[in-house]
This record gives sequence, C-alpha cells and structure tokens, in this order.
Amino acid sequence: MNNELTIVQTADGSNTIYNPQVGENYHSRHGALQESQHVFLQSGLHYFLETNPTQQVSILEVGFGTGLNFLLTAGFCIGQKINLEYTGIEAYPLSHEMISDTGYEQYTSPEIWGEFIANYPSALRSSTKLNPYCQLQIAKCPLLNFQSETQFDVIYFDAFAAIYQPEMWNEEAISHTVKFLKPGGVFVTYAITGNLKRMLKGLGLQIQKIPGAAGKREMLRAVR
Ligand SMILES: C[S@@+](CC[C@H](N)C(=O)[O-])C[C@H]1O[C@@H](n2cnc3c(N)ncnc32)[C@H](O)[C@@H]1O
Repeated sequence: MNNELTIVQTADGSNTIYNPQVGENYHSRHGALQESQHVFLQSGLHYFLETNPTQQVSILEVGFGTGLNFLLTAGFCIGQKINLEYTGIEAYPLSHEMISDTGYEQYTSPEIWGEFIANYPSALRSSTKLNPYCQLQIAKCPLLNFQSETQFDVIYFDAFAAIYQPEMWNEEAISHTVKFLKPGGVFVTYAITGNLKRMLKGLGLQIQKIPGAAGKREMLRAVR
C-alpha cells in the first residue's frame, strides 16, 4: 500500500490532501474551500467579530494541516486592518514542498501567500511576524501537549472525524482545548454529535446548532 500523502481535488475545484494511513482527506470532499469559508470564516470568525467588534483577534486552530484556514483568515483580517494572532496546533506538520503545492495561492493575495511560504519553517519553530498585521505560530505537538498562557477569541477545531481519530473528540481532548478559549470566545467545528454537545455544555459553553457546509446538514458553534 502507498502510504504517501497525495493532493486530490474536491467538488468545488479546490485541492485537499488524502492521508492513506488515516483513510481520510484533510477537508470535505464536497469542497475544501467552501468548507473552510463556511465553517471557520463565516460561522466562526465573522460571527465573533459581529458580536465583539474589535481590531485585534486571536485564533487557535486544532489541526493546522495545509494552512488553508489560516490563509483565508489572514486575507480577511488584513483587508479589514484587524491585527491577527494565529496559533495552529499540528502534530504532523506537512513538508514545505507539500504546502507549496496545494494551489492555495489562488485563494489569497500574492503578498500573503509569499509571506506564508517564506515563513512556514520559522513559524514551526516560534511565533513569526508575517507582516504588520499578522503573527503566526504553529505548535508542533499533539493537542494534549499544547500549553499556552494565551486565551483565544476563536477556536477552529479541525481534527480528523471522530470515526478516524476518536481520541481528538473525547472529554480529555475537548476540555483541554476549551481551556484556551476566552470567556465570550467562539468554538466552531464542522461536525455535530450528541456527545460533543453534552461535553461542551458540561464545560459551561452555550451550544448553537447551525447549518453545515455542503454535504453536512448541521455543524456546531459554541460560545463560552
Ligand atoms: C482534518 S485535518 C486538518 C486540516 C487543516 N485544518 C487544513 O486546513 O489543512 C486534521 C489535522 O490534524 C492533525 N493531527 C492529527 N493528530 C493530531 C494531534 N494529536 N494533535 C494535533 N494535530 C493532530 C493532522 O496531522 C491533520 O493535519
């Protein structure tokens, strides 16, 4: 069996990565770009900014992967002159070559793409300023080993689905993640299950069941 990661196209024409060891794609096969825009940008970041207008936002992403969510977020924030502090957690960082080959330069400005590609190795070592508006750090560790003094405004929870990686969706993983969310902060993920709702409710979050990205009826947003 070929265990190599491969770039594959999704239904909206945008690429994702297939991981044969997990047996799963990094994004929805119905469209990587549409999923990222709907779940993380519109339902997460935009919702947070509508309810908490600010010129400074901090985001934590669980499962940084290709950086697609980061690129769209950075493009939006720079356009709005919002300072962005973005931290990704990634246990298995992709190679620089694979990141460069995603084709995601189409979905952001040449400046942001250039800054991301040039600074990806450095962001894996420490927090790196990409431009006056944007700071990126990718914590190279498993979720449960991640520690931070920062509490974040928005958490993008983008782990592989629970059927492939149940340990990312159990009580220990979810309560560890939510520790890093500010009071009033927003947690979003593409999935919704009874178990996840119960866990987040038990951690004191207010649950919202909202329309999902293409291919999913519903998704979950929770406010601390
Ligand atoms: C669904 S993919 C994320 C896609 C990513 N957000 C993107 O836009 O490319 C899940 C990611 O979680 C990472 N991952 C797997 N186990 C992890 C763990 N224990 N801690 C942190 N990240 C993990 C995988 O390597 C993968 O990059």
